[in-house]
Amino acid sequence: MSSTIISETEQWVRGKLSHDTSGHDWYHIERVTTLARYLCKDTQADEKTVILASLLHDLADDKLIDDEEVGRQMIATWLRDKHVSKEIIDHILLIISTMSFKGGTGSPMETLEGQIVQDADRLDALGAIGIARTFTYSGHKQQPMYDPSLPTREDMSVEEYRHGQSSAIHHFYEKLLKLPALMNTPKGMALAEERAQYMKSFLQQFYSEWTFKK
Ligand code: ADP
Ligand code: NI
Repeated sequence: MSSTIISETEQWVRGKLSHDTSGHDWYHIERVTTLARYLCKDTQADEKTVILASLLHDLADDKLIDDEEVGRQMIATWLRDKHVSKEIIDHILLIISTMSFKGGTGSPMETLEGQIVQDADRLDALGAIGIARTFTYSGHKQQPMYDPSLPTREDMSVEEYRHGQSSAIHHFYEKLLKLPALMNTPKGMALAEERAQYMKSFLQQFYSEWTFKK
């Protein structure tokens, strides 16, 4: 596989996601790819598979496309046209399908390449960037930034939240603060812990401003 395929894929994905405002813009893809390259270093993982799966991972997401199967077909056609082997195409599609399962109900990521891309995507949902993306997404969905009448407990399940209205702050509890425990790689876990810690201090400051009394 030649490395021109990486730059051609970058251009293709950049063109497709340049107008996105739901938190899946090109810069998300670029950050995930950079994180995945970092997690891939000094491992046995196939770097090209990691990079291509990172670049392509959101093109079949149902937040961006009506039919995920159509998205997967489009990715397969693109890679086939670039003469990527069937084995690598199948692997990339498996990574993307496994990543798109919602609520942690999907099958675990089996391959090291998939574990790296999944960790990289999760890391971009954490830290300062993760906070910014959550508020952007909530605005896009017309959810409030916070609703103090909703409970916020880290041990609440996604299902408990699904019954009611959510908010940006509630997304921290329903998903984001649970991510460090789900990380696959040691380097990913260390970064996730650091980024989650930053989010917890953000929450403390947020509540102290929310309940301000002179
Ligand atoms: P990714 O593209 O990284 O897999 P998602 O598609 O799950 O992430 O979500 C994109 C961004 O929007 C993430 O930063 C995520 O935390 C945020 N997000 C997803 N669902 C919600 C929600 N219900 N409320 C607020 N933010 C959300
Ligand atoms: Ni993503």
